[in-house]
Amino acid sequence: MNLMPDFPILTLENLATAVVLLDSELRISYLNSAAEDMFETGSKNLHGLTVQQVFTHTEQLANAMHQAVTSHASYIEHDMILGTHAHGKLHLRCAATPLQLSEPGLMLEFHLIDRTLKLAREEQMLDQTQANRLLLRNLAHEIKNPLGGIRGAAQLLEQELEKPGLREYTQVIIQEADRLRGLMEKLLTPQTATNHNSLNIHEVLERVRSLVLAEIPVGLTIQRDYDTSLPALLGDKEQLIQVMLNIVRNASQAMQGKGRIILRTRIARQITITRRLHRLAIIVQIIDDGPGIPKELRDKIFYPLVSGSADGHGLGLTLAQDFVSQHKGSIEFESEPGRTCFCVMLPLTP
Ligand SMILES: Nc1ncnc2c1ncn2[C@@H]1O[C@H](COP(=O)(O)OP(=O)(O)O)[C@@H](O)[C@H]1O
Ligand SMILES: [Mg+2]
Repeated sequence: MNLMPDFPILTLENLATAVVLLDSELRISYLNSAAEDMFETGSKNLHGLTVQQVFTHTEQLANAMHQAVTSHASYIEHDMILGTHAHGKLHLRCAATPLQLSEPGLMLEFHLIDRTLKLAREEQMLDQTQANRLLLRNLAHEIKNPLGGIRGAAQLLEQELEKPGLREYTQVIIQEADRLRGLMEKLLTPQTATNHNSLNIHEVLERVRSLVLAEIPVGLTIQRDYDTSLPALLGDKEQLIQVMLNIVRNASQAMQGKGRIILRTRIARQITITRRLHRLAIIVQIIDDGPGIPKELRDKIFYPLVSGSADGHGLGLTLAQDFVSQHKGSIEFESEPGRTCFCVMLPLTP
């Protein structure tokens, strides 16, 4: 592209902020990749067009551009609505800055306001989850040790019992101690070191698919929508199987064995995952058409011991989140009756 050859395009490409450059006639000459993602279109398609030709509801944008040009200074509109083809009306913060390079021009920077709010919420959630996890691990340790003593004492007691009928009670103690121990071990597992190798995410998903289909053979379909061009991922295969399995199992349990689950894989560029910007990431979406996550659980399903079912432990998603964060990734979800989507984001860059 021959516009403004002295402008450090390479630097712009790496920005998380969406940047659009306009030439001296205020026609679009360049979009960085964050802008291409935001507006879901390429630089080439928009080259030479005006903002009025590309967007709708451009009054505020036109005003910001006018202010910047006439005052020869940056103009920031904190609360802008802009109509786009890809996403409808977007709620944006926009800065318009006049440029004086080899020829004059204008730089537009766009931030999604909703996205900023969402990131702030996610960060808060992350801090909270990490604190909770630490507390829980310590607690699990503290509970596990005396459990061994209780179980041992019950066994000794059982040997001394004269009436065999009383064994029923010692057996309850032993079995319950074992159950608690199993639970505590689940809480402690994520501490084990991970074993990262190059792997294909579709192998992971295929394994999960056949496991779940074997559990619930009729009435449930699991569709694949894979992007087969995805590169290999560096990760712990067993952990990732567990992650996907926990999420898919939840979906199939929620649908009580009938309905449709979609396993979708995609690539994402320039994506922020738990505070870090990644050039490339693999996105796995697990979508079901079940009843949705109960409203009262939505804020806390990743917390340990939170479960919507009587026989659940409430550890499935906690472990999934732990494993994913060991891959520097994160899990998000959206849920409404008829559509629940869990989105696992796994960065590809080290
Ligand atoms: N796809 C889904 N649809 C509806 N509810 C879900 C879904 N995934 C998770 N949930 C809810 O989140 C809860 C927590 O899940 P999880 O941490 O795996 O614990 P558990 O499966 O042992 O209950 C579930 O009990 C269920 O109520
Ligand atoms: Mg579960």
